[in-house]
Amino acid sequence: EKGNYRHFMQKEIFEQPTVVAQTLASYVHRADEVVALPQIDFDLSAIKRITIVACGTSYYAGLVAKYWFEQFARVPVDIDVASEFRYREPVLEDGGLALFISQSGETADTLAALRHCKEAGQTIGVVVNVPTSSMAREADLLLPTHAGPEIGVASTKAFTCQLAVLAALAAHLAVKKGRMDRAEEQEVVKHLLEAPACLNAALAHDDDIAAMAHLIAPARDVLYLGRGSDFPLAMEGALKLKEISYIHAEGYASGEMKHGPIALIDDKVPVIVLAPSGSLFEKTVSNMQEVSARGGQIVLISDKEGIEAAGEGCIATIEMPKVHPLIAPLVYAVPVQLLAYHVACAKGTDVDQPRNLAKSVTVE
Ligand code: F6R
Repeated sequence: EKGNYRHFMQKEIFEQPTVVAQTLASYVHRADEVVALPQIDFDLSAIKRITIVACGTSYYAGLVAKYWFEQFARVPVDIDVASEFRYREPVLEDGGLALFISQSGETADTLAALRHCKEAGQTIGVVVNVPTSSMAREADLLLPTHAGPEIGVASTKAFTCQLAVLAALAAHLAVKKGRMDRAEEQEVVKHLLEAPACLNAALAHDDDIAAMAHLIAPARDVLYLGRGSDFPLAMEGALKLKEISYIHAEGYASGEMKHGPIALIDDKVPVIVLAPSGSLFEKTVSNMQEVSARGGQIVLISDKEGIEAAGEGCIATIEMPKVHPLIAPLVYAVPVQLLAYHVACAKGTDVDQPRNLAKSVTVE
């Protein structure tokens, strides 16, 4: 079943252009360039607040989506990890959409949070990859990802498909709220449809990433930095590295470095910086300089423009295609997945079945 691939995780990383295209096919109308959600039988324009609940990688997809819902639709978003959600006694007002994101649709904490929100009268939306799952059955608004079965314990293709669905939902909500006109919607759809080709362009750097894995494999600690909607990607990168290579890693907002974690920096700590060129780039470059000045070993993941501007002095650079900021989180998922994958291979760990982890977490 793995075909020419060594591991399911590797196969699933490489499936992303196809499955993201497959997912988008059921959320956008290609000819008219508008968003078309599969099944919707209530008035989304009445939604006043969104509460997102998920775990792990699915939670990071939710963090990215918060930027989109707030930026496009101006709908306020609360987001929690599922294991914390109920215990903080969240305020759930009428007219709220509670959105659950899960590959398996069975994660115990997420499912319990869903039931809690249902009892509190929230409209229940779910983004799931398993259409027959418990969460899918209990949803008012079912938004399936079409990633196909994900076998590798570390989630990869489900994540980028979740992002594709969430971006389409955010644009749709913005239209319903009168915050986005037809031309802007077409612009968003156009950029989403560029994602599969950009994912392919990112995957083309697989060999470069494999070749630099030995720089990261001996590390004890690794930091990942990102800003804006790439900040959740920094956390996702750190999670992937921890789970399959067993190297301690943390994702931080670039600007938070100087508030503590910079104390960790010496010449043994690789710092992976996710920084597409654009409006937030200059600020991130200043944060990189703070790291370099303390001997930190920087790996810059950026586009050609970004690497030309700030690549000097880095121990390695990984070049991404130049992409619209909307799809950057999808495209930048690829290098962090591949980096974790190749570091794990270099260390000889069990990539598809990392120690202590289960694919579906059905206990709270
Ligand atoms: C990370 C990973 C886990 C899951 C988490 C949620 O690679 O696989 O963090 O993302 O257990 O699982 P789902 O999405 O099935 O609810």
